[in-house]
Amino acid sequence: MKKLILVGAGETAQTIFQYFAASKDFDVVSFCVERQYIEASRIFDLPVISYEEVVSSPQRFKDHYFFVAVSYTDMNRVRERFFNELKQLGLNLASHVHPSSFIGPDVTVGENCLVYDKCSINYKVRIGDNSTICSGSVISHSSVIGCNVFIAPNTSVGGFSSIGNNAFIGIGAIVSDMKSVAPFAILSAGAVLFENASAPNIYKGNPARDSNISSETYLKLMKGIS
Ligand SMILES: CC(C)(COP(=O)(O)OP(=O)(O)OC[C@H]1O[C@@H](n2cnc3c(N)ncnc32)[C@H](O)[C@@H]1OP(=O)(O)O)[C@@H](O)C(=O)NCCC(=O)NCCS
Repeated sequence: MKKLILVGAGETAQTIFQYFAASKDFDVVSFCVERQYIEASRIFDLPVISYEEVVSSPQRFKDHYFFVAVSYTDMNRVRERFFNELKQLGLNLASHVHPSSFIGPDVTVGENCLVYDKCSINYKVRIGDNSTICSGSVISHSSVIGCNVFIAPNTSVGGFSSIGNNAFIGIGAIVSDMKSVAPFAILSAGAVLFENASAPNIYKGNPARDSNISSETYLKLMKGIS
């Protein structure tokens, strides 16, 4: 079994822990958190180590695997930052596909990807590094999922479609076949996309329409910054 360190300690990390703990391939040995965010010395009876400890002496962790167990915060940029830093340190990043998910032939899955349970990833799909496909999602043949993408549960992506880097696809959304979603776009929960989502904006409804609000503006509004 490969020794695994989960980066993160919040709700997402604790949820992802359940998946790795049930896996036959990985033995989760600790959680890893930036010092200022450490709230407990143990989680699920495992030690919490500081991220700074890993950064200052990466050679100590060369025989470990890491998984950045962080959600879509800041359009997936937080997960992206940890992923890039750990890669630059030369550390191993794990990926995991739940055994109840179907992975078709000629599918490629990047590093630090998690395919949750009951997904179907069909023939010739490519999934870039650091992307998350949540439970019950279907990615149809020859589609391309970029890097740092977050796909919420029960989403369907039709064949020959593409999802740009750092995009967020909301719960239950549908991307029709041969459509593209721009990098950093948000497809809202339940949206049905029949036209390309070509701007880094929020798209809502059925049929999905461009709200003309960029994901950057949306994030600033959510943070109360004008
Ligand atoms: C798109 C989204 C980000 C918009 O958030 P928001 O702008 O804060 O939404 P608000 O609640 O302020 O609603 C603004 C308007 O959009 C509408 N709206 C919000 N979400 C909508 C959606 N998914 N589909 C259609 N209309 C939506 C609201 O009804 C409201 O309409 P009104 O102005 O006529 O009253 C959010 O609704 C969404 O889809 N989030 C994704 C949730 C998700 O998938 N989570 C997965 C976690 S695993």
